[in-house]
Amino acid sequence: MKRIVAMCVALGLFCGLALSIAPSAEAKTVIKIAGMKPEGEPETVGMHKFGEYLEKLSNGKYEVKVYPNSQLGKEDSYIDQTKRGTIQMCATGTQMSKFHPAMAMLETPMLYEDLDHAHRAMKGDTFKLITDGFAEKSGMRTMNVFPLGFRHFYTKNPVKSIDDIKGLKMRVPNIPLYTNFAKEAGISGQPMPFAEVMTSIESGAIDGGDSPLSDIASTGVYEYAPEVTKTGHILVLHSLFINDKFYKNLPEQDRKWFDEAAEMAAEDVWKLMVQADQDAEKKITAGKGKISEPTPELKKYMTEAGERSWTLFTDPNSKQHVPNAKEILESAKRYAK
Ligand code: G3P
Repeated sequence: MKRIVAMCVALGLFCGLALSIAPSAEAKTVIKIAGMKPEGEPETVGMHKFGEYLEKLSNGKYEVKVYPNSQLGKEDSYIDQTKRGTIQMCATGTQMSKFHPAMAMLETPMLYEDLDHAHRAMKGDTFKLITDGFAEKSGMRTMNVFPLGFRHFYTKNPVKSIDDIKGLKMRVPNIPLYTNFAKEAGISGQPMPFAEVMTSIESGAIDGGDSPLSDIASTGVYEYAPEVTKTGHILVLHSLFINDKFYKNLPEQDRKWFDEAAEMAAEDVWKLMVQADQDAEKKITAGKGKISEPTPELKKYMTEAGERSWTLFTDPNSKQHVPNAKEILESAKRYAK
């Protein structure tokens, strides 16, 4: 009997020891991922989807913590944190053109006929041609690409003709692609962070700006500049980026999980985009917003301005010159219907 008791005590001690070791042997690796948009917007949905897929594929080896809405700092700051490896991942778009000018060509104005056209180009060579060489220059790797929606104008007064757009003072993101396109469209582009838009409209410093419908709806900017004109001149495309050193140090199987999770998350966002735009339209029109289609003349004017703006990338004398710009443009056009 004594011997049985002693064996049970020994077994109990062994199990206790084993249990105390087990958690650290199976400790999760936490992946921090930062973004700029609020909850519910396509970018944030994409980050959460990535987390769900990675946790599932890795059977819980990785735990993804999502920090949307600039919780880890503004875009420039969290890009820098990803580059330095303080955090592993982030979501952003053409801000990455400061490392590799071709990244701005993801949002080339008036390039895509519709969402499906862009989707085909991004799944094909166009995306590869744009991102080729980015990791070497930036220390970060582009994991995927997904849409946030086409940009449309929001203004205080209706935009019915070409004359209505000329000379408007419009907020633009502080990215050469945007300032250059505004110039070509005869707009007075006012570079500023989105956070300053509402007060700048109120003070009269700007007449409006442009954003995807999901941004116009979630920020409530349509309460300040209620006339939304659906010019769809730029498709905003964002990606998930990962610190390249971190990625390269992952075991091969784990890299596959990261790739697969990123790809599936992006595909989910492409699918939900049409519904997201419809939901945003409902919210805007249920409030003070009014949504109008541009006249054919205005649409043509925007198309021509967009095409002129491509010289930003094709002109060898431009600071934003992209050596393979013509190849990128031709590739994108091949994916049209
Ligand atoms: O890709 C750049 C774009 O996301 C910036 O747009 O209007 O969110 O500052 P915005």
